[in-house]
Amino acid sequence: GGRIFSGMQPTSDSLQLGNYLGALTQWVALQDTHDAIYCVVDLHALTVAPDPRVLRERTRRTAAQYLAAGVDPQRSILFVQSHVPEHAELAWILSCHTGFGEAGRMTQFKDKSAKQGTDGTTVGLFTYPVLMASDILLYDTALVPVGEDQRQHLELTRDLAQRLNSRFGAGTVVVPEPYIVSATAKIYDLQDPTSKMSKSAESPNGLIELLDDPKVVAKRIRSAVTDAEREIRFDPATKPGVSNLLTILSALSGRTVASLEVDYEGKGYGDLKKDLADVVVDFLTPFQERVQHYLSDPSALDDVLAEGAARARDLATPTLERVYDRCGLLPRR
Ligand code: TYM
Repeated sequence: GGRIFSGMQPTSDSLQLGNYLGALTQWVALQDTHDAIYCVVDLHALTVAPDPRVLRERTRRTAAQYLAAGVDPQRSILFVQSHVPEHAELAWILSCHTGFGEAGRMTQFKDKSAKQGTDGTTVGLFTYPVLMASDILLYDTALVPVGEDQRQHLELTRDLAQRLNSRFGAGTVVVPEPYIVSATAKIYDLQDPTSKMSKSAESPNGLIELLDDPKVVAKRIRSAVTDAEREIRFDPATKPGVSNLLTILSALSGRTVASLEVDYEGKGYGDLKKDLADVVVDFLTPFQERVQHYLSDPSALDDVLAEGAARARDLATPTLERVYDRCGLLPRR
């Protein structure tokens, strides 16, 4: 048991395979054993200054992909972050307990702000991890299923939770644990298999997007970077490309990497790539049909999101009231 919370940013038309294997697969599985809350974090997406119409469209598309992957709004809460104003309110409180240097040490902030320069970097990008901590703490979350790249943000969230509890008394907030499944915690770019697969990659050729044309996806898999050997062996240090393909095949087929290694003894990289392309296409084709089904009725989708927001708000309100009270804010009457 225990509460689960996680979210993704609607910053692209399609999620990518890293989002799916690193997080979404875990979200779906955890619904069987936990009370889960899954959020489309549209306020976080504002840090990249999206076109307003595009953001609205991507918010719905992201929710449709959660549903198509198997997030079940009967069992779990599915909602959009901006529909629950308590997220921004608790973020303010947390920002008053976050050190300037502490926020400045976040590596994602350092990387992004280094690219954008001081004038291109907004205060919103700087406080992004504080809003993420707010998302999590607002629901007394026990476990947060994410990929490896979110580990440092979760450390900050835990530090903030412990700080609030020591300043305002035990039980002010729940200290969450990360839930990071090591086998799939970091899926790599097909062209640059030492970098993580990412929506913001420089070239799209190393990316598998869930809503891409399956033919394009198959082609990208066939042109994935491997190495000069021939042997199909899982060894991330010396064979990052081949190891990444084995990780993806194992996750999508449910077979262990060890048994795949045995199967591919004496076979070539071309065989592995062909089989992987088939498995990915067989997964994507019905997935894309389900996404289209959810997108074909935006008002039904908006109903699901509205109901989720109402249920989320019922859980968020008492947490925010408790924190406000302990901080010394005068109660509203
Ligand atoms: P975002 O939108 O960048 O990514 C969503 C999820 O996908 C995981 N992920 C990966 N996992 C494995 N391999 C990859 N190549 C890969 N790329 C992405 C991410 O780790 C993440 O779990 N800050 C978060 C969103 C967020 C959030 C939260 C998450 C906001 N509030 C509260 C959890 C709880 C983010 O930018 O994820």
